[in-house]
Amino acid sequence: MKYQVVRNTKYDYAGQSYASVYPNLHKYPATMLPQIGIDILKELNVSSGTLLDPYCGSGSSFASALECGITEMYGFDINPLAVLISKAKFTKISLSEFLEAKQTFRNNIFEFLKNENNINDLTRPKITNIDFWFSKEVIANLTAIKYFIDKIASENVRTLFLVPFSETVRDCSYTRNNEFKLFRMKPEDLLSFNPDVIGVYLKKLEDTFFLYSNYYFPRLGNEVKIAVEYSKFQPRNEYFDVVLTSPPYGDSRTTVAYGQFSTLSNEWLGVNYARKIDGMLMGGIKPKRITTKGFIADYIAQVNQTDNKRALEVSAFYNDLGNSIQRIATCIRKGGKTIYIVGNRTVKNVQLPTDQFIAEKFEETGFKHLVTYERALSNKAMPSKNSPTNITGKTVSTMLSEYIVVCEKLY
Ligand SMILES: C[S@@+](CC[C@H](N)C(=O)[O-])C[C@H]1O[C@@H](n2cnc3c(N)ncnc32)[C@H](O)[C@@H]1O
Repeated sequence: MKYQVVRNTKYDYAGQSYASVYPNLHKYPATMLPQIGIDILKELNVSSGTLLDPYCGSGSSFASALECGITEMYGFDINPLAVLISKAKFTKISLSEFLEAKQTFRNNIFEFLKNENNINDLTRPKITNIDFWFSKEVIANLTAIKYFIDKIASENVRTLFLVPFSETVRDCSYTRNNEFKLFRMKPEDLLSFNPDVIGVYLKKLEDTFFLYSNYYFPRLGNEVKIAVEYSKFQPRNEYFDVVLTSPPYGDSRTTVAYGQFSTLSNEWLGVNYARKIDGMLMGGIKPKRITTKGFIADYIAQVNQTDNKRALEVSAFYNDLGNSIQRIATCIRKGGKTIYIVGNRTVKNVQLPTDQFIAEKFEETGFKHLVTYERALSNKAMPSKNSPTNITGKTVSTMLSEYIVVCEKLY
């Protein structure tokens, strides 16, 4: 191993969940525990300046940074659902405006649903295989909810209404809710599945408001500026002081399928490329040749001995991750820190040292590797086993540890 890894039990947080610090407003795959960000920023004495999270997902890094006194943050993600969740959590809205909108919404929707014919006048959303995923009644109710959410004038208030809408889409669809991938319920379960969509939504709306107003709103002072964009990170002239991020693990098509997890929500939200998202994520486009440069090359060569297709997929991921690090590196201020939280996944029985790859790439671009901590992974919301050998029944743990890789910009 080239860059030293220190096992640090302080970062295990055994028995702690995400919710013990900042409850999430919406489920999301592979969320980072905000506790990790809080403790590592404190350890590095980072309490001001600007923060970048180029793969911000549901925005856990912003929660960590706010807790440490950082008030200016920039996030990027190419999954619109992720951006929606992050924006909802970290945009300050007027609570009274929200409550007023909630009352109007309730009155309007109940009035509207009194006449069954009203629903026929609404335009149905464009959802692929809609009848496969939703019953007629669920489609009608979701369409009505979305219609009245779209009538809310304030964009920020609307965003907070859309978060429980997305969860309602998920919960009231025929998907198996304990999976990240899009699988339909068993036929015998479909018959008895008859959710009260409006009831589910209104309950989730209450819960969302409770969490937002108690955990997020109080921390969003006037000085706080958190900007989140639906896009890959775009290099810009400004300098960031710290990067805190947990990039995808390179298994978006297999294990942690962000796109699949979000497909139905994204389609209901009006995103017309929802089904293409997993292909757009890092490593989504395969190169013609496998990677032969750097520390990772030997590992990819080992994968290639048994499976060329998988070796190309792995190469695609590291090519993208390396290019992204290069772009990010140019935008960090001298003395600035980068904190990447990653897992070393196993492909074809080869454990891929992503932590080492990241340290190496940063060192190639004017950084010094400061430390890598290894933490035991016990509470991340992701499958712990998969079948990387593709031999039925033969599974290995996808990840038992996570690595916190810290580098500093020298020049
Ligand atoms: C491990 S998750 C981040 C989770 C986040 N830390 C949280 O707590 O919710 C990785 C994220 O990277 C996003 N992503 C994948 N490829 C991307 C790319 N090229 N540019 C921006 N975001 C990307 C995925 O949509 C996903 O939300």
